Amino acid sequence: MNSQNIVKKASLRSIAAYVPEKVLSNFDLEKIVDTSDEWITRRTGIKERRIANDNEQTSDLGTKAALKAIKRANLNPDDIDAILVATLSPDYFAMPSTACKIASNLGLKNITAFDISAACTGFIYLLELAKAMVESGSKKNVLIIGAEKTSSIIDYNDRSICILFGDGAGAGIISLNSDNPIIDVHTASNGDYGDLLMTKRSQKSSISTPLCMSMKGNEVFKIAVNTLSNDVIEILKKNNLKASNIDLFIPHQANLRIIKAVQEKLNLEDHKCVVCVQKYGNTSAASIPMAMNDAYEEGRLKKGNLILLDAFGGGFTWGSALLKFGGENFS
Ligand code: COA
Repeated sequence: MNSQNIVKKASLRSIAAYVPEKVLSNFDLEKIVDTSDEWITRRTGIKERRIANDNEQTSDLGTKAALKAIKRANLNPDDIDAILVATLSPDYFAMPSTACKIASNLGLKNITAFDISAACTGFIYLLELAKAMVESGSKKNVLIIGAEKTSSIIDYNDRSICILFGDGAGAGIISLNSDNPIIDVHTASNGDYGDLLMTKRSQKSSISTPLCMSMKGNEVFKIAVNTLSNDVIEILKKNNLKASNIDLFIPHQANLRIIKAVQEKLNLEDHKCVVCVQKYGNTSAASIPMAMNDAYEEGRLKKGNLILLDAFGGGFTWGSALLKFGGENFS
């Protein structure tokens, strides 16, 4: 075969994460709002979450995760030719982008850098974008980052929201490597449901309206379970795979009950399902790369493993991805 006809595939060649030091436990929240560790644990599975300090911005969390991801890919910052960031809690709400801030932190002055807005599905959207960029030949090494300081857009008087979310960042590098390719990525949205999960301030509201999140949790819950289940079943079917072929299922970490419902639909054993919602809560766009990193550092995610990712978030947006992990094993 003519070598020009060989289609080169994009691969996830490293994964890393950073979490702030400060822990906010359910017991801490009991002192702030009318809630209990028992209620939060039973309804969500969350026990604690991390909170960034006043001096740490989303870009700082993302930069720390990025530096580790670059090192784990055996690259230098100079090798990166694009930075894509998914976040719903950017340093600045219009500009400069968090990606530009991270590029500056890494000393990169002449590369593509931009943010996307796809809420908790952001990292899956980035996988699709980065895959297209490297497979087209337009970029060589794309740094993708999900980073969130959700605490900056949370009203800590609202018990329906403040118990759910946490801060953190996860990052990965996408480069060509057909041995362990990103096999398929599916992304989707339905804007008709926008008002079920949103930030309160819009262009129509006064500047004094708080920026914070609001959610109709019960309605979001039901749609999330159905959408996530259908999405993973469809991506497996489209690629002639069964759930039993998957080495690790790494879902968005929003609520243990949602994760368990999807896991049951797939009939997957516990050791194949990554769960860390109890430690970090919902970190939105950072949730999937943080969960991948947890599995990686525990030695559960290994080079060549077939992994299935699944996410759902505000918009509504949702998506799934099938890939073979292309990074070196954790040591
Ligand atoms: N502590 C104690 N009680 C609380 C509470 C809290 N933190 N938050 C809400 N409640 C109360 C409500 O006021 C309500 O009381 P009432 O019956 O007297 O009116 C009761 O608990 C039930 O509220 P409801 O919202 O129906 O609970 P739920 O079982 O749906 O659980 C969530 C709430 C938020 C945990 C759940 O809906 C959920 O996880 N939704 C999806 C969230 C999610 O994943 N979002 C992100 C998608 S990316």
